[in-house]
Amino acid sequence: MRKPGTNGIRAAESIESGLNGFEPMARSAGLPVGVVGCGPWGANHVRVLREVHGVGDILVADLDQGRSERLARIYPRVTSVPHIDAMLDDVECVVVATPPSTHLELALQAIESNKHVLIEKPMTVSEIEARTLIDSAERRDLVLMVSHIFEFNPAVRHLRSLISAGDLGRVYYLDSARLNLGTYRHDVNVIWDLAPHDISITNYLLNTQPTSVQAWGASHAHPSLEDVAYLRLVYAPLGVTANIHVSWLDPCKIRKITVVGSERMAVYDDMAADERVRVYHKGVSASAGNGHGPNTFYRQGGVTSPYIHWEEPMLVQDTHFVRCVVTNERRPLVDGWKGLDVVRCLEAADISMHTGRVVEVPGDYAALSAAGTAKRDAG
Ligand SMILES: NC(=O)c1ccc[n+]([C@@H]2O[C@H](COP(=O)([O-])OP(=O)(O)OC[C@H]3O[C@@H](n4cnc5c(N)ncnc54)[C@H](O)[C@@H]3O)[C@@H](O)[C@H]2O)c1
Repeated sequence: MRKPGTNGIRAAESIESGLNGFEPMARSAGLPVGVVGCGPWGANHVRVLREVHGVGDILVADLDQGRSERLARIYPRVTSVPHIDAMLDDVECVVVATPPSTHLELALQAIESNKHVLIEKPMTVSEIEARTLIDSAERRDLVLMVSHIFEFNPAVRHLRSLISAGDLGRVYYLDSARLNLGTYRHDVNVIWDLAPHDISITNYLLNTQPTSVQAWGASHAHPSLEDVAYLRLVYAPLGVTANIHVSWLDPCKIRKITVVGSERMAVYDDMAADERVRVYHKGVSASAGNGHGPNTFYRQGGVTSPYIHWEEPMLVQDTHFVRCVVTNERRPLVDGWKGLDVVRCLEAADISMHTGRVVEVPGDYAALSAAGTAKRDAG
């Protein structure tokens, strides 16, 4: 078990050392948090973490020190340090918001220094890397959480409640589109950059992981990395497929998920100013017919848009992470195992894209994860 008092607000107040020789600052009460990587997404974490109850000082680091210093200038209680080494003595947890190819090294360094870690998606760029982080965090009984931010999105949560309540009937298939012009990444292709969202959303909505993946992708404007891709995920036990289109090379920004059920259909449009979830009371049924083919009946109903109380997903997510750290009792909703589920699916998609084969996604990590929890509870 984690030792009481090694994290949380009181522990934060007890820190005595300065900032390893960097500009000393007056300590504020609260959990000291580090953020590594101050690009757009790291900057979002810093903005949001300042609002999270219980968070104290925030230390930020980026290879481009101009980026971390800019955040320190904008926000009080935020201090720039030159690199991750310079923050580890002074923080209780670290948010890793650097390019995916650097996640393993930085997260492992933080974990080996006994820091709880929230790591951006995709968790890592291979299964072996993800397992390394899980093993290392579990050995030290540290919180390892992966930023699958849509699992904290009220609209996605509502969609899940519609599915699990049976409001859509039997789910036939899901369709997901995540398209825009850019931003091109330099270390991963469009599948690893954008599809983690769609895979984590469909896993979350269906409460399981796919059994196989088929993918097609091509590079157009980039010399080597695929910038447009299509994935087909099969959730065999449920008889459900999820079709995912991701692109860095599209004129329109689209973030849309359609769930087609036997009774109703629901569309979640992340770009909609309001009415982000719409439920279409429409459907089709077919009977055997009379020898001239099946008879098809169309149900044309209305459209409803449920009220959804909106909260910023990143604020909900980062609050949950901090809560997991300070309460010392809760496993994060998106733990390393769920991160691994997505990484395995991404690896399978890459293999499929390069071989043209349907690739199985073996392993029931949700079950393993549950077993791990049971073992930990028993211990
Ligand atoms: N959840 C989401 O919706 C979402 C959206 C965008 C990005 N992301 C993820 O967030 C992460 C960052 O994305 P971004 O758009 O800010 O990327 P970015 O490339 O614009 O910025 C990353 C920053 O990390 C810095 N960096 C790189 N290596 C470093 C190291 N070893 N130590 C310290 N700093 C280092 C870079 O200098 C850069 O400033 C990625 O993993 C990305 O997949 C998530």
